[in-house]
Amino acid sequence: MPSLHDLPTPAVLVDLSVLERNVQRMAARAQQHGVRLRPHAKTHKTVAIARLQAGAGAAGLSVAKTSEAEIYADQGFDDLFVAYPVVGQDKGRRLLRLAERVRLAVGTDSVEGARTLAEVFAGASRTLELMLKVDVGYHRVGVEPERAVAVARQIADLPGVTLRGVFTHAGQAYAEETREGVDAVAGHEGQTLARCAEALRAAGLAVAEVSVGSTPTARQAMAVTGVTECRPGNYVFHDASQVALGTCQLEDCALTVVATVVSVPAAGRAVLDAGSKTLSSDQLRPRPGGHGILLGHRSRIAALSEEHGVIAVEPGDSFRVGERVRILPNHACVVANLHDRLWAVRGDVVEDELPVVARGRIE
Ligand SMILES: Cc1ncc(COP(=O)(O)O)c(C=O)c1O
Repeated sequence: MPSLHDLPTPAVLVDLSVLERNVQRMAARAQQHGVRLRPHAKTHKTVAIARLQAGAGAAGLSVAKTSEAEIYADQGFDDLFVAYPVVGQDKGRRLLRLAERVRLAVGTDSVEGARTLAEVFAGASRTLELMLKVDVGYHRVGVEPERAVAVARQIADLPGVTLRGVFTHAGQAYAEETREGVDAVAGHEGQTLARCAEALRAAGLAVAEVSVGSTPTARQAMAVTGVTECRPGNYVFHDASQVALGTCQLEDCALTVVATVVSVPAAGRAVLDAGSKTLSSDQLRPRPGGHGILLGHRSRIAALSEEHGVIAVEPGDSFRVGERVRILPNHACVVANLHDRLWAVRGDVVEDELPVVARGRIE
């Protein structure tokens, strides 16, 4: 393995000691609350980290896309949930092949979408397990809780599919400016979904799984009675946004980027070889503020173009050409997807190279 100082930059580092601690902590929390942990593997898109999660007791993996599920199935993961409203007969045919080799569930939030998959499965005399996505306030996808019974009933009536349960993602937590605000979103997430499951059961529908999950809300949402499963993803790495949200401390962040100062063209400006193709353009949450934290410096990365990160140098701070810096990105999940490999380090020792195998798997 190359030494840390010889890695070509920009390079993405994952500190294994921190990663392992994050994996263990979330697994212990889930165990304490008696819920299944189904980590979202879109965060890291690697096999080694998924294996670590499985080894810590994960009940299976969540993925965002059908093609990610195919990659993980190829690698021997046999219990997968595509936590996304999948639509289309083409996807249905791929899911049919997947369902032959793994335990599979797929998200839906409409009768129309579910029907496209149901037709394929019914045509093959097979049954696909569906999870109904419920909107608990993020207002992205998902049926409103009041409509859940009506939609679930129509979906359950379709030949070729059966309802496994309900799921949600309280992404609105990322806009909360205080820890109390995040906790309130988490309580609402768990309670709304558990109530929704009860309403479905009262209407005669079987609901085996009640699945919540985001990294900021996981701890509180999984503690709500009635919740059976939790799907955090980002927690393996954490990032500058999780620190800003109060989800974790700086020392809980496993993923950083090493970059080189390639130019100091004027007083007050230094430029890195890491731009939006390395760090992504994702804003810091809950409030925008630079393009990642420059560890050990007061200055901020004020602007990005594709291959350049422009530092606004604060008085008293300085950078010289050729110097290497470490950056804690705003959003680790997007950073992992931008790179072919992650360098697994323990402190200053490079231990392994982790291929980002599901990188670009977005269909
Ligand atoms: C449906 C769904 N579940 C779970 C997650 C994981 O959330 P987080 O990245 O906050 O851990 C996401 C993230 O986008 C998601 O969209």
